[in-house]
Amino acid sequence: MSSKKQDSKSNKLWGGRFVEATDAFVERFTASVDFDKRLYRYDIDGSIAHARMLGKVGILDTQEVAAIVEGLQAIRADIDAGKFSWSVALEDVHMNIESALIERIGAVGKKLHTGRSRNDQVATDIRLYVRAEIDEVCTLLTKLQRVLVDIADREAATIMPGFTHLQIAQPVSFGHHMLAWHEMLERDFDRFQDCRKRVNLSPLGAAALAGTSYPIDREYTAELLGFDRPTENSLDSVSDRDFAIELAATSSILMTHLSRFSEELVLWASAQFGFIDLPDRFCTGSSIMPQKKNPDVPELVRGKAGRVNGHLVALLTVMKSQPLAYNKDNQEDKEPLFDLLDTVKDCLFAYSAMMPAIECNRDAMYAAARQGYATATDLADYLVNKGLPFRDAHEVVGKAVASAIEQQKDLAELSIAELQNFSKAIADDVYDILSLEGSVNSRDHLGGTAPKQVKAAVKRAQQKLSKR
Ligand code: ARG
Repeated sequence: MSSKKQDSKSNKLWGGRFVEATDAFVERFTASVDFDKRLYRYDIDGSIAHARMLGKVGILDTQEVAAIVEGLQAIRADIDAGKFSWSVALEDVHMNIESALIERIGAVGKKLHTGRSRNDQVATDIRLYVRAEIDEVCTLLTKLQRVLVDIADREAATIMPGFTHLQIAQPVSFGHHMLAWHEMLERDFDRFQDCRKRVNLSPLGAAALAGTSYPIDREYTAELLGFDRPTENSLDSVSDRDFAIELAATSSILMTHLSRFSEELVLWASAQFGFIDLPDRFCTGSSIMPQKKNPDVPELVRGKAGRVNGHLVALLTVMKSQPLAYNKDNQEDKEPLFDLLDTVKDCLFAYSAMMPAIECNRDAMYAAARQGYATATDLADYLVNKGLPFRDAHEVVGKAVASAIEQQKDLAELSIAELQNFSKAIADDVYDILSLEGSVNSRDHLGGTAPKQVKAAVKRAQQKLSKR
């Protein structure tokens, strides 16, 4: 062996065939340890399962398995305690841990990588990580749903204006509005659960791309790691990140919902609406305008929806056009994935902490609902009940509203004589339906806004949530 080769030979775990050391820039450029080190728990779990499997099929003997498992557990304890030093020269979390194992337990440590590759290793790590994160997200989602259902229960009879086109449309129950948000989150929850099914499969054993010539037991590692079963195809197992893309898409939809809630909270907290007060501890002030109390938390959540959408596009684009099987492109899946999950969890946490503390200004909501002729549809329906065709009723009420606007009055403030100018069918009983309460109570069917229905919907939601 020439001395040049000896000197320059790479000191990497994969350095055997290399005659010169890695360029310093390339070393930094290709390394992922700075961000993938957060997978260390899953990496160690995967390695322990792999070692146990190698023992089960007779590739490692009992002492070897014990030494490897103990070594890995000690490394985990060191990392947990912040006593592990990560090296960029060792590229990624996998090789940092494997090197540390060899250093700690000696030559036996070199046997761990038998029958596997970093390709199936990293695919396993990410799936374990994503599975754990989905479970955390679902816990946070459930917590927020419980908060919304509690508010709905308390505010079932609180009347606010319902909007279409952001124009006052018909009165609704504030509790009903909260349950609309709850329904959106319910579908988000289902989407995360559904995504979890496709995440929870074990790619371990796919090795680099083609499988391995050792008599491995993939069912066993899958079982040890709590996966539902092994994946079917080795090429697919090491390469596709569709489960991460699906998670990102699911997260984007959730964030879209949170951005809509946020927009409403921001509007409602404004002086023009004044429907709610956000707790001071969730707001910030202005450095120049002393009177300001800004709804920063909902604004930021609204903004962070953009960030998560960006990560979805990044993941789609990383995957796009990649030939089978593993390509280094896939190393780019981690930062978007980590950041989007951190973001989603923060936003859900913020919401479940903030929502119980919002104050509902019931009088302001009620007054706003009175101002916008929100019971005009009820008057039309009343006329239909008295025999007018709906289109004629619509016309009559339109004229009545125009006259009320001119006089700066609410419909209920017009005298019976005035109302009868628009239609002789109108009688004294009209005032029952012109009231906001009458209007809301009349929408008394499944999915309607009558407080009675809201209470029933709250019960159903509570029942569902109690099973989680
Ligand atoms: N750090 C790599 C990643 O994140 C691990 C797999 C590397 N595999 C390889 N053949 N270079 O994807």
